[in-house]
Amino acid sequence: MHDDARFDRSSRNKLTPHDLDRFAGPTLFDRVGRVVCRAACLPRKELYEAWEVARRVRRRFRGGRVVDLACGHALLAHLMLVLDDRSERALAVDLRVPESAASLAAALAGEWPRLTGRVSVERAALESVPLGPEDLVVSVHACGALTDAVLSAAIGARARVAVLPCCHDARTCDAGSVDGWVDAPLAIDVTRVARLRAAGYRVHTQRIPAEITPKNRLLLAEPIGAAGAEP
Ligand SMILES: C[S@@+](CC[C@H](N)C(=O)[O-])C[C@H]1O[C@@H](n2cnc3c(N)ncnc32)[C@H](O)[C@@H]1O
Repeated sequence: MHDDARFDRSSRNKLTPHDLDRFAGPTLFDRVGRVVCRAACLPRKELYEAWEVARRVRRRFRGGRVVDLACGHALLAHLMLVLDDRSERALAVDLRVPESAASLAAALAGEWPRLTGRVSVERAALESVPLGPEDLVVSVHACGALTDAVLSAAIGARARVAVLPCCHDARTCDAGSVDGWVDAPLAIDVTRVARLRAAGYRVHTQRIPAEITPKNRLLLAEPIGAAGAEP
């Protein structure tokens, strides 16, 4: 039996079949956890980050093509479809897709056969991905100014967007001149909110649990007046 109190959800250790009994319960999350353990390729924190982001995004934003930018193993793209079948397809892109992303995708499709053929994982620069207003852009830990590139792409297409930023860098990100009052990472994220609002977006700010990652600010935004947006 494992001691759950000592199970560090922020660990970068890979989940493996040794961890299966930590996910023995009946919940959907346990089921995802078991698939990830059997695939034996994903750092533990990536499971928790992707899950916590996906469930919060799906509470706000349903349907649309999911576009997971700087996707890494692309677990987020898959979870977005697991949680909402109204999204027909997902596209996940990264400059360096890990080799094990294919094993994880196969394991997820084995557990949820309805995912088969619906998630494309491609090696590409996120700046090159054509987007449209029906898309739902998601990105977890696009480092530093890469989060701003994700926001630029979404704004350019009037697409809904959700990001969990990391690696804030005041040299390459806009701190909105308020970093004399609040710390630079917060200044940068607040400035991102201001940018989205100025671009005609309604913004929602949340956090995922800090014990999973200290870079836990989740920013969700939808264009005001878009089909499906709140009035
Ligand atoms: C910190 S990792 C996050 C990966 C994944 N989203 C996660 O949460 O585990 C940042 C990722 O951005 C990717 N990346 C960097 N520049 C990129 C670009 N211009 N276009 C697409 N991906 C990029 C890197 O290859 C890396 O996988």
